[in-house]
Amino acid sequence: MKYRPQGTSTDNQIEEIFGKAYDHKVISRLIPFLKPQKKLLLMAFSAMLIFVITQSSFPYIIKIGIDNHILNQDIEGLTWVFIAFISIAFINWVSGYLQEIFASRMSQGVLQNLRSKLFAHLQKLPMSFYDKTEVGRLMSRMHGDVGQLQEVGALIVATLGELLSLIGIIVFLMIMSFKLAIITLIVVPVLFILLIVWQKLAKRLYIENRISHSVTINNLAETINGSKIIQILTRQKTNMNSFDTKNSHLLKTSKSATYVSSGVLPGVDFLTSIAISLVIFFGSKMIGQSLDIGVLIAFVMYVQRFFDPLRQITMSYTQFQRAMASGNRIFEIMDIEPDIIDAKHCKKLTNVKGNIEFNNLSFSYAANKPVLNNINLKIKSGETLAIVGHTGSGKTTLISLLSRLYNLPLNNGSINIDGINIQDITRDSLLDHMAIVLQEPFLFSGTIMDNIKYRLTEASEEDVIKASKTVNAHQFIKDLELGYKTPILERGSNLSTGQRQLISFARAILSNPKILILDEATANIDSTTEDLIQKALKNLVYERTAIIIAHRLSTIREADNIAVMDQGNLIEVGNHKKLIQSNGLYKKLYDFNYDSIEIAR
Ligand SMILES: Nc1ncnc2c1ncn2[C@@H]1O[C@H](COP(=O)(O)OP(=O)(O)O)[C@@H](O)[C@H]1O
Ligand SMILES: [Mg+2]
Repeated sequence: MKYRPQGTSTDNQIEEIFGKAYDHKVISRLIPFLKPQKKLLLMAFSAMLIFVITQSSFPYIIKIGIDNHILNQDIEGLTWVFIAFISIAFINWVSGYLQEIFASRMSQGVLQNLRSKLFAHLQKLPMSFYDKTEVGRLMSRMHGDVGQLQEVGALIVATLGELLSLIGIIVFLMIMSFKLAIITLIVVPVLFILLIVWQKLAKRLYIENRISHSVTINNLAETINGSKIIQILTRQKTNMNSFDTKNSHLLKTSKSATYVSSGVLPGVDFLTSIAISLVIFFGSKMIGQSLDIGVLIAFVMYVQRFFDPLRQITMSYTQFQRAMASGNRIFEIMDIEPDIIDAKHCKKLTNVKGNIEFNNLSFSYAANKPVLNNINLKIKSGETLAIVGHTGSGKTTLISLLSRLYNLPLNNGSINIDGINIQDITRDSLLDHMAIVLQEPFLFSGTIMDNIKYRLTEASEEDVIKASKTVNAHQFIKDLELGYKTPILERGSNLSTGQRQLISFARAILSNPKILILDEATANIDSTTEDLIQKALKNLVYERTAIIIAHRLSTIREADNIAVMDQGNLIEVGNHKKLIQSNGLYKKLYDFNYDSIEIAR
């Protein structure tokens, strides 16, 4: 039985295992990030070189000690060899340490640079990117993938070091005895065959294990996130069974993976022993003729070390694969063109009166699926327009376009503010005059005060309190133990939805914007909060142009104009009285709504 988790984490993992260990595309894009770290890279490299040279000279020094001094009973010379050995050991230690330090400092520099580039890039991406991307995936890219890439620099240095020491060992062996070196190296092809076979087997089991692992983890995460609804739906037992199945499968795959992965190191050790016995067997026959005893001992020591770099390189291979896959995913995001937010000719919008005009506005998110059809609508400065219509009729799209969250393609009509096309206005200055409150209040970490000041960080405390009073939020905030200093827990879980919405109203109003937009801002809140907002509404829209999208038609009756949308078309405009009289969709919605309110009471 095969488990395939949803999402892409498995694809990522498979890509990691089957992917390239060296991807020129990724490396060439990483180089600019490594460049500022040139000095550290050079220092790490130098330290590595010293480390490798000292490391591979130990057996040779021992050989010198034995052959030149011990066998000749040259005790004084041996003292010098001893001193040299200790000194080189010391240099070896220091250089190894420095290599690590320089390499990791270099990596951290790369990481920091990469993360901030990515962060800046994410803030510039078009809304359409976020429409298509899961938060979880993005988070994992920011976190895991950047982390993977961080290792690359250090890994390159370390792997080069391993390669060099491998070459160094072979060179030393050849110098000491060419014949014995060839005999010893006979086991190397066997080792490669072992490693290749092992890799193939391990790959398959590893994939199965990772898939199983991520299925189990996904299942666990879903259960934790949905714990409330699971208990309500009494699914515990069914879920338990399904978790058990997944969990046993995980155990099975883990076991097989363990059998295989446990086999490889002893296998390598076994080959090492064979190589050593070859050295001793053939070497001892050569002693006296073409070989000194010290050479034999050095050989044994070299052979013991020979397999370490090989093992390390095998391990770095998978790490490289992972890093390349991560790099690919990160640069994929980096390659998404940021929205050209402002065309060159855009001007700042100042002194807004707040006349809004939609002219022949059409829009679609995807080709051939029109969402808005030829909308013509005027809102005079200081007036309130209410928009009603069924879900999906295009209300939110209309205001997303007004706030330029999506850019309007050419020939799709225009939106003007005080007669200026909003495509000719910088988006920042446009939004400076607008406040938008969405259906789902979103609070950031920090205090209530921080959240109200989120946009206008320089606002004074008095201004914050004034804004809170305007939206009737002051009372409840004041009654909290820490008042405005109350910290917002994860996503505002310590406040009710209504309270969070009041805070976002205060945030919206703080900058005293000329244009106020409420998109079903009262849809999810309790009736007490709604009352508060209803009462505040007059203050809110006072001397402002307001667009209010609302379900509850009680909010709407007072509006100067009501626009009725249906499937992307604007089908009726007028005030409450007029629309009731004309007996169209508004009347139907109103009757339905009114009835439901009456019944609810
Ligand atoms: N980001 C988006 N990407 C693609 N289609 C979208 C997007 N947002 C909304 N739509 C589609 O556009 C239509 C209008 O949606 P919307 O403006 O949100 O309606 P309303 O706010 O009136 O409920 C719907 O059919 C919806 O599925
Ligand atoms: Mg909507």
